[in-house]
Amino acid sequence: MIEVVNFTKRYGDFLAVDDLSFTIGKGEIFGFIGPNGAGKSTTIRFLATLLRPTSGEGRVAGHSVTGDPMAVRRVIGFMPDDFGVYDGMKVWEFLDFFAVAYEIPRAFRKKIIGEVLELLDLTSKRDDYVSGLSKGMKQRLCLAKTLVHDPPVLILDEPASGLDPRARLEMKALLNELKQMGKTILISSHILSELADFCTSIGVIERGKLLAAGSIGEIQQRIRAYRVLKVRVLGEDTTRAKEVMSNDPSVRQIESFDHTVTAEFVGRDQDMARLLERLIQSGISVQSFAEEPLSLEEVFMMITQGVVG
Ligand SMILES: Nc1ncnc2c1ncn2[C@@H]1O[C@H](COP(=O)(O)OP(=O)(O)OP(=O)(O)O)[C@@H](O)[C@H]1O
Ligand SMILES: [Mg+2]
Repeated sequence: MIEVVNFTKRYGDFLAVDDLSFTIGKGEIFGFIGPNGAGKSTTIRFLATLLRPTSGEGRVAGHSVTGDPMAVRRVIGFMPDDFGVYDGMKVWEFLDFFAVAYEIPRAFRKKIIGEVLELLDLTSKRDDYVSGLSKGMKQRLCLAKTLVHDPPVLILDEPASGLDPRARLEMKALLNELKQMGKTILISSHILSELADFCTSIGVIERGKLLAAGSIGEIQQRIRAYRVLKVRVLGEDTTRAKEVMSNDPSVRQIESFDHTVTAEFVGRDQDMARLLERLIQSGISVQSFAEEPLSLEEVFMMITQGVVG
C-alpha cells in the first residue's frame, strides 16, 4: 500500500535521509520510530507529496508520489507534526473547509462531518471556536480533518506528541478504531511504548538510515541472540543463586536487586531448563524463574547501538 524506494533527501550539503526503502502492506499499522532529527518527518512529508526528493521514489496505493501527487493526496489523510488550526473558525467550519478542499459534494458534507465528529467524540464541540479547544481536542480535530474524504491510508506525524497521559490513551483508542476500520496507517513517534500495542510492523530510523524494518515479531527474533532471565528466590538465597548462575557458561551480566537476580542468557531452551535444575539441586528456594519478554524500548536501544540490524 505504501512503498518507499531508495528515498534520499539532502538539505544543501546535509544528508537528512539516506537511501531509505521500506514497504507497508494493506491494513498494516507501521510504527516509524527514531530519535529527534532522525528523518521521520522528512520521509513523511515526502510521502505526503509536500517535499521533493533528492532522489528515489514513493508509491501510495499504486500512485507515484512524484509522478501523480494529486492522486496520492486523494488517497491519504495527512496529519503533520506542526499543524496549524484556524483559530477564527468553528469546529464544523474547520472540517467543512477541508471537505470543500477535497471536493466533497455539498449534499454529503454535513453527514460526513457529523460522522467524523461522532467518531472522534467531538460532537458536543461542533459549534465551538477552534481557538477555545484544549490541545488534546485540537489534536483530535486534526485527526478528524484527515478523515473527511475517507482515505484508505493515514500518514500521521507524531499525533500524540504533547498530550497528557489520558489524552494519549484516547488517541490510542481512536487509532485502534481506525485500524479496525481497515485503514493502512503510518505513524511516527519517538515514544515506543505508545506504538508497541497496536503496530503490526515497525521501522527504526536513525541519522537518516533505516536500521531495521519488519514485523515486531521478526525484529524481536533477530534480537534473541540473548534473552533476559529473571530469577526470584526466597530468604537469603540471592548470593548463592548468583554464584550458581555465574558458574553457568550460558549466563552473563548478572545483577541482583533485593531477591531478584537478573542475567543475560545466551544458551538454548535445554540449557535454561538445566540451570533451573541446578539452582534447585543446590537447595535454593526458587520462587520464580522466567524469561523477560523484550520491550520495544530494549529492541530500539539494541538496534540503535548496533547490536543487531
Ligand atoms: N528544511 C530543512 N533545511 C535544513 N535541514 C533540515 C530541514 N528540515 C529538516 N532538516 C534536518 O534534517 C534532519 C531530519 O529532520 P526531520 O524533521 O525529518 O527529523 P524527525 O525524525 O522528524 O525528528 P523529530 O523527532 O524531532 O520530529 C534534521 O537534522 C533536521 O535538522
Ligand atoms: Mg518530526
